[in-house]
Amino acid sequence: MASQDNTGRVNAEKDIKRNPHPDFKKVESARDPWDKSLEFNFKQTPNPEWKFGDGANDGGATLNIPHVEIDPYEEGRSSVSNYKLLISGIIPRPIGFISTRSKDGSSTNLAPFSYFQVINHDPPLFTIGFACGFENAKDSLRNLSESQECVINIISEHYVEAANAASINAPYGETEWSLTGLTPAPCSTVKASRVKEAIFSVEGKLESTREFESRATPGKKTGVLAIIEGTRFWVREDALNDDKNLIDPVVLRPISRLGGITYGRTTEAMELLRPDYQESVASKEEVKKLVKAKADGQ
Ligand SMILES: Cc1cc2nc3c(=O)[nH]c(=O)nc-3n(C[C@H](O)[C@H](O)[C@H](O)COP(=O)(O)O)c2cc1C
Repeated sequence: MASQDNTGRVNAEKDIKRNPHPDFKKVESARDPWDKSLEFNFKQTPNPEWKFGDGANDGGATLNIPHVEIDPYEEGRSSVSNYKLLISGIIPRPIGFISTRSKDGSSTNLAPFSYFQVINHDPPLFTIGFACGFENAKDSLRNLSESQECVINIISEHYVEAANAASINAPYGETEWSLTGLTPAPCSTVKASRVKEAIFSVEGKLESTREFESRATPGKKTGVLAIIEGTRFWVREDALNDDKNLIDPVVLRPISRLGGITYGRTTEAMELLRPDYQESVASKEEVKKLVKAKADGQ
C-alpha cells in the first residue's frame, strides 16, 4: 500500500510541544504510584441544600475574578494555541479508541481520538473529529473512508499505556496492534477487530463525513467530522446488568483525556435528581414568583 507523506503532521507535532517536563521520567518517578485500591465512591454534591434561585455554590466568589477575552484569530495567535486551549478547557473528554482495517484487509490500524462523542441513541450515532483533511488523512480516517467501517473501544484503566502507545505516528501499513500488545477479537458486522481488553466496544458503519477548511489558511483542509452508526455493542459480562442496559463504572473504569498529555480517571461521583417543572416549580408559589421576577429583570 502506498505510504502517504505525513512529514507535515510530524513537524506540526513538534510545534505543539505537548510535554511540559524537560525530564518526563524524573517528574513521573517523583509522583505517588497508581493507587489500585482507590474505590469508586459516591459523595454528596457540594451543596445538598441547594434550591431554585441559589446560583453557584461558591457564595459568588468566582464573580469577582475577571475573564480574558480571546479572539481565536487575533494577531500573532497560532492555531496550536487554540488547539491547546480547547483540549485543556473541554475536559474530561471521552476517548474513542478506533480500530480500522483497509478495504483489502492488508492493513489494520488502532488509534485514540478524543474529539469523540455519542450524539444519539436511535440510531446509535457517534462522532469522531480527525485533525486532518482527506488529502493528508490519518491512517484511521483513510481506512474508515475506504472500508466504511470501524470499531470504537472505550479505554479503561487496565490498558491506558497500551492505548496511548497506539497514538504513535507509525507509517501507513504498519499496524499498532503488535506495538500495543493488545488482543484483537472478531466482530459480527464489521471486518475490523475489536480490542478484547476493552470492557465496552461498539461496531460501527460510516454514516457520513464532512471536511472543514482552515480559517487561518483558506483552502487548507484541516478537519474531518465522521459520523458513525453503531451496529453492535460488546460489553464484558461482569460490567453489564441483567437487563443489558447499564454498564457499571466500577468495572468500566474509564480513562478520559484532559489537556496536553494528561489523562483522567473517574473514581468519584454524585447523584442529582432531575427536576420536574410541575412538581418543583408550578406547584410552589415562592419558586414560581422567582421565575417571574427573573424574567422581568432580564
Ligand atoms: C488520547 C489521545 C487523543 C487523541 N485524539 C485525537 C483526535 O481527536 N483527533 C485526531 O486527529 N487525533 C487525535 N489524537 C492523535 C492520534 O491518535 C494520532 O495522530 C495517531 O497517530 C493517529 O493514528 P493513525 O494515523 O494511525 O490514524 C489523539 C491522541 C491521543 C493520545
